[in-house]
Amino acid sequence: MKPRGWMLALAGLGAATAVAAQDLRSPSADQYVPRLGDIMSAAQTRHQKLWLAGKAQNWELSAYELHQLRANLVEAAVLYSGIPVSNVTTLEPSLQSLSDAIAAKDGRKFAKALGGLTEGCNACHRSMGRSFVVMKVPSDPQPFANQQFAPQAKP
Ligand code: HEC
Repeated sequence: MKPRGWMLALAGLGAATAVAAQDLRSPSADQYVPRLGDIMSAAQTRHQKLWLAGKAQNWELSAYELHQLRANLVEAAVLYSGIPVSNVTTLEPSLQSLSDAIAAKDGRKFAKALGGLTEGCNACHRSMGRSFVVMKVPSDPQPFANQQFAPQAKP
């Protein structure tokens, strides 16, 4: 297919905005590789849902969101060889504390562990020239009005 004007314009735009991320891309991937920013956007969604679920004491959903978030972080490290593995492994204690807090249904421990994890997100952003991407432990009001976070009554 002959590239159309808008395609070139879009490609040009991409090149301009993605320059900084270029060295993070994995050139050997022959399948669809999600962009690192997309993996991170999914991580952001899960980070927020994890908090909302924990706040609502829905430990089953918290465990699920934590699992999804961890998968995002692993995916980022596996697909983007430019990310130092140590930047991901340093998050492990926070992820484990979250997992423990969820298992113990301990809201206080959960909140503390989420703070630690969030600091881990920012530490990696700082070390990779993305110090302007600053995550924080979410605050109200809820942005995800399209999902219920309180636990469902068991039938
Ligand atoms: C191992 C390093 C690393 C860790 C850990 C990490 N990030 Fe990122 N994150 C990055 C990099 C690198 C970028 C920039 C991607 C780009 O420029 O394409 C980024 C970008 C982002 C963005 C911006 C995406 C966009 O398109 O607007 C968000 C949001 C984000 N991260 C959230 C998180 C959250 C939440 C966590 C923790 C749960 C986290 N990140 C942990 C490396 C990391």
